[in-house]
Amino acid sequence: MPECSCSLSKIKDFRSAVLVSERLSERIVWLTLKCPELAEEVCPGQCVMLFPAEGMDPLLGRPFAVAYTDAEKGEISICYMLLGRGTEMLSTLSAGREVRVRGPFGVPLKSISDKVYIAAGGVGIATFISFIRSNPEKIADVFLGIPGKGYEKYAAAISELVPDVRIFTDDGSFGEGDSMFKTLPEKIDENAEIWSCGPPGFLKAMEDHFAEQKEKLYFSLDNRMACGYGGCMGCVVETTNGLKRICVDQSIFRADEVISHEN
Ligand SMILES: Cc1cc2nc3c(=O)[nH]c(=O)nc-3n(C[C@H](O)[C@H](O)[C@H](O)COP(=O)(O)OP(=O)(O)OC[C@H]3O[C@@H](n4cnc5c(N)ncnc54)[C@H](O)[C@@H]3O)c2cc1C
Ligand code: FES
Repeated sequence: MPECSCSLSKIKDFRSAVLVSERLSERIVWLTLKCPELAEEVCPGQCVMLFPAEGMDPLLGRPFAVAYTDAEKGEISICYMLLGRGTEMLSTLSAGREVRVRGPFGVPLKSISDKVYIAAGGVGIATFISFIRSNPEKIADVFLGIPGKGYEKYAAAISELVPDVRIFTDDGSFGEGDSMFKTLPEKIDENAEIWSCGPPGFLKAMEDHFAEQKEKLYFSLDNRMACGYGGCMGCVVETTNGLKRICVDQSIFRADEVISHEN
């Protein structure tokens, strides 16, 4: 990955060829697109919006973190969970087809601490993969929780990108155990922080685990989005510092500063 200038670049629309669309589990898809300009520009933590249809239905694009970039080949990859109509439609795109992509948007990830722990549930790790790969000296530990049986291929794909990832499975069928909460540090050091992304129940469990140190816990939040460039207020998080838009103001949110967010 090239040195990231981490400046907010101008968002553009592209038509990109689908190179790979591969199921990593029944409900997780790895999608690689040819888009040299985006591959050159995107910084760790930034996102793209994919438009599931050519026409007006559905009208809005769906936001996804750019999980992997290969600037030399001009490729970007996202890793998404099938949730509803938009992602179901995206999953029908096979190699050789084209998709409308908007990006890059979102605030690049940066750490002010010496060390960062990462804890993710499911596809929540996608938002952190590029940061982990481009800042190895900053990473204390990476924890990933997944359901278990049926997710072996997904676990292998993530382990290839993040070789030190520590995997935990709900059913205990593989990985280090049935819950990362038995292994996560009890206390985060002064010069460290912990970043987290995942389903609402997972974020709540993180909040409970670090109840005494919420100022060390940061969330990447998957609010719904509409425009992606700051105009619609659709992605707003209510914080103790006012309303913040995920697409232009802030990428991760301190747990003790979040008052409410749509999820
Ligand atoms: C900045 C950002 C980055 C994201 N990165 C990823 C990623 O890397 N991989 C990934 O799998 N997903 C990611 N998401 C979530 C992804 O955008 C949604 O899952 C997707 O838009 C759902 O579209 P759909 O049409 O399939 O679902 P819909 O038919 O629109 O909704 C289906 C169900 O999912 C719920 N839902 C829809 N969107 C969201 C959302 N954003 N957050 C929580 N619940 C939602 C709806 O309330 C509904 O219950 C990200 C979201 C944001 C805002
Ligand atoms: S999606 Fe429109 S302001 Fe963020």
